[in-house]
Amino acid sequence: MAPTVMAPVFSAVQSFIFNRRLFISSAIVLVIAIFIVMFGKLGAMRDRAQDLSEQVHKHLHLHDRHDQHQQQPPHQQVLNDDPGSQYAPGPAPPVPARPCSPEAFAILRRKWMAQVVGDFDSGAIDLSDPNVQAKVKTMSEGGEGILRDFEPGPDRVFRSIGPLCAADMSFHRTYGKLLQLAIAWATPGTPQYQNQEVLQKTIAGLDHIHKIFFNSSNKDIREGIKCRNNWWAIQIGAPKTLADICVILYDHLGPERRRRWGETIVDIVGNTAIPSLKGGNRSWMARTLIITGIFMDDANVLNRGIATISAQGGSAEVAKNSLFRYVEAGDGEGLYKDGSLISHDVYPYAGGYGLVMLDSLSCMLALLNAPDSPEEFRIKDPNANVIYEMVERNFLPVVWQGIIFEHVRGREVSRRDGPGWKNGHRLIHAATLLSKGCCGQMSNDLESFVRLWHNSSPMPTLENSMLPQIPLLKSVLRNRNGPMATPPRGAFAAPVQEHFAYHAPDSRWCFTLSLSSTRIGRAETIGVENVRSWYQGDGMTYLYTHTHKTHYADDYWSTMDPLHVPGTTNHQTEPPPPQYKNMGYRDWSGGACWAGGGGGNGVAFRSGGVGARFAAVSMDHYASDKRSAAKKSWFMMENAIVALGAGCTGNADPPSNLHTTVESRNLDCADRLLVINGEEYRPEAGWEKASNRVYWAWLENTAGYIFLDAGRNALHKLFSRQQRWGKWSDVNKGEQKGRCHREYLNIIIDHGVNPKTSSYAYAILPLADVETTRRLSENPMWTVLQNTVELQAIRNRFDNGNGDVLMATFWAPGEIDGIRVEQPCQLLWGWWSAGASWCLTVSDPTHKVQTVVVSVAAIAQRGLRVVNASEGVVVNGDRVTFNGLRAGGAKSIFLTGQGGHDEL
Ligand SMILES: *[C@@H]1O[C@H](CO)[C@@H](O)[C@H](O)[C@H]1NC(C)=O
Ligand SMILES: *[C@@H]1O[C@H](CO)[C@@H](O)[C@H](O)[C@H]1NC(C)=O
Ligand SMILES: *[C@@H]1O[C@H](CO)[C@@H](O)[C@H](O)[C@H]1NC(C)=O
Repeated sequence: MAPTVMAPVFSAVQSFIFNRRLFISSAIVLVIAIFIVMFGKLGAMRDRAQDLSEQVHKHLHLHDRHDQHQQQPPHQQVLNDDPGSQYAPGPAPPVPARPCSPEAFAILRRKWMAQVVGDFDSGAIDLSDPNVQAKVKTMSEGGEGILRDFEPGPDRVFRSIGPLCAADMSFHRTYGKLLQLAIAWATPGTPQYQNQEVLQKTIAGLDHIHKIFFNSSNKDIREGIKCRNNWWAIQIGAPKTLADICVILYDHLGPERRRRWGETIVDIVGNTAIPSLKGGNRSWMARTLIITGIFMDDANVLNRGIATISAQGGSAEVAKNSLFRYVEAGDGEGLYKDGSLISHDVYPYAGGYGLVMLDSLSCMLALLNAPDSPEEFRIKDPNANVIYEMVERNFLPVVWQGIIFEHVRGREVSRRDGPGWKNGHRLIHAATLLSKGCCGQMSNDLESFVRLWHNSSPMPTLENSMLPQIPLLKSVLRNRNGPMATPPRGAFAAPVQEHFAYHAPDSRWCFTLSLSSTRIGRAETIGVENVRSWYQGDGMTYLYTHTHKTHYADDYWSTMDPLHVPGTTNHQTEPPPPQYKNMGYRDWSGGACWAGGGGGNGVAFRSGGVGARFAAVSMDHYASDKRSAAKKSWFMMENAIVALGAGCTGNADPPSNLHTTVESRNLDCADRLLVINGEEYRPEAGWEKASNRVYWAWLENTAGYIFLDAGRNALHKLFSRQQRWGKWSDVNKGEQKGRCHREYLNIIIDHGVNPKTSSYAYAILPLADVETTRRLSENPMWTVLQNTVELQAIRNRFDNGNGDVLMATFWAPGEIDGIRVEQPCQLLWGWWSAGASWCLTVSDPTHKVQTVVVSVAAIAQRGLRVVNASEGVVVNGDRVTFNGLRAGGAKSIFLTGQGGHDEL
């Protein structure tokens, strides 16, 4: 009953809106009122519908650009993760048209063709290029297969897909195949190129699916929109694909079809001026409207697409979702000025949803804002820079050698086909496109990142590109005068998303941490995806090395031991399945990059790749099953990371051993030398060794490990070489069931059965050689000053004794070495240049303590004078007050002294 009532009401409302602006608000209220009534009736159905739509949405999100020609059916059951949002459909208020010329549309169509099919007109694509030939060959074969499959019937277009149904992907996949045909038809070198029969079949297929299924009077479609059933395929996937096809076939469709299909899209996409439309979703819908405006020659539709990006044309609540805007700490989803990028409210997600947004927006900016784009349809939003800057601000800190870090990829780590380097390639292409949509310094900067990531990526970028991307990327790489960005070195932080990483000075390795708290979720698990994520956000340490760049991509997640996640402290009983939005229980998770020492301050944006020389990071770990806990700190330096744990507690039932995993390495080759206290081992699978007299160990091609608790009462260290078998379906029920096999080298500290307050202290020396490991174990540059639940602190000498830094986690007010703090905080204090320069850096890992007071004895003792300080830092005698600490961000004060001092 509901849908038949709906259709006339809907079109009446629509004509009101388009004809009489006075009625806009009342019409919208009416539409919403009707939906509220209907939502009540369809409650149960809606719940089921949301499950399904999430399922589809999830599946397609990341396969969007690359797999748009080879969609697979959805295969995962996914929870509804956004019950609060209302996806109210209905037409939006019109946006006043700007004056425009017919040529403008023609230029935009040509430019869009270049992005979707390839720029064949200008000769940019070289058909003799082997990369291009490989793509053309694949496309030709794909086209042949699709033509064989073409067999329109009462409920389908292709034999292999049907019956068409609004609750599944069938119609979206049908459009995907038609797009693939249209692209093959438009690509020189394929047997389908400019072939009449191919063209006729493609158009016949489009006519057919519109007639039998995908049109806005189909009640199943209408109902899907209303109930948000399968909303991704209906409102984003299919319209977006159809719009692309219409641009490619523009000259052959005739005005009548273009109008009809364009109106269908506009109708189905509906009102985009709604508050629940954010991030990646908003960018997709904007793109669909813009491309639709281009093939309809309709400035109104095109401008509505542009307004959708900036979230204009709605309430102030809607405007907050502009994609050209930074969100404030606590606002959840979006881009942050500190370099964070959060999706699904609580997850760092640059490597997933962040890419979706960057992808769509880079396409639109390259289309509309390039030097050769028509004047009429430029994106004039003064804040559009946010997107160009996003590459450096929000991506640079989470990329090493063209690989996007695992812990900013959410549940996608559990997908076999989407390793970090592949996402890195998507970033490279997005940055390339963006560089084409701007000029001057910004374009140079973007190109410099493209070169850096392309040159360092573990996998060939061009071979893995889509055809239209090849000439664009090549044009950036060909410009020999173009600079290459300096690889990041040192520590970088994005405190809102609790992200801290250390890049080696020579970029041979990178160390990152995955933390969580009451603000940031431990790790994303939804439905069947990433189902063993228990400890992924509990202080997991990642060590990327140039000797095995694909360490985390080589069947790592399907074979790793989820109870021995490097860096974490936990008991040995499997906890209950992780829940969605698996939040930490404690506020404390964060750190600070030391601004002194002549390095950067840990802010990636405009740093020229120069990070901080030292960083202190900490997390109050309390496992999701509440059966293991530890206070953990990491002190990151140029050649070592010191990890301290105190208050390590287990209360597993039945009782079990509490382990801190120092390393669990996915070995890249059969033969790896292990050295323990100088003794060499070439362990075979199954080998094990336990000892409480281990001072240091060294694993070939990986790192040195120094145990700082060696000596009396030292804990047992367990070494093993382990064969591990696993299936991707173990971690993601929608994945392949085939067994994978890897071998791991484990180094584990055994705290014993359910300890009350155990502790650990070790150092990792990434890629150190065996001699350095031995030397540093005997004579380290650092000293552990304290490792208790009140204070974890080390001191480190650097620059051959011309510098010294104290790094501390004050879990409670306390005092050490002339530093006294009145509130808990993360603190770094030290000098360099032989004592001429001094710096104190403080942050609040709880995001709750706004003011921290530190008394520094050296200020009076050495007569230090203030050089400069962050806003809100006040000095009174030897008391330094840090006011206005916010969102985990650090503040610093620089002082100057006489020089020549050799200790703090
Ligand atoms: C739209 O699809 C429905 C359902 O298949 C069909 O009955 C109707 O005739 C189609 N409408 C148009 C205008 O093609
Ligand atoms: C898209 O919207 C749906 C429904 O509101 C939501 O569940 C999903 O998380 C959104 N995704 C992105 C990338 O914004
Ligand atoms: C503060 O002083 C330090 C040390 O001289 C210097 O490196 C830094 O750039 C200064 N910061 C500002 C904001 O002037």
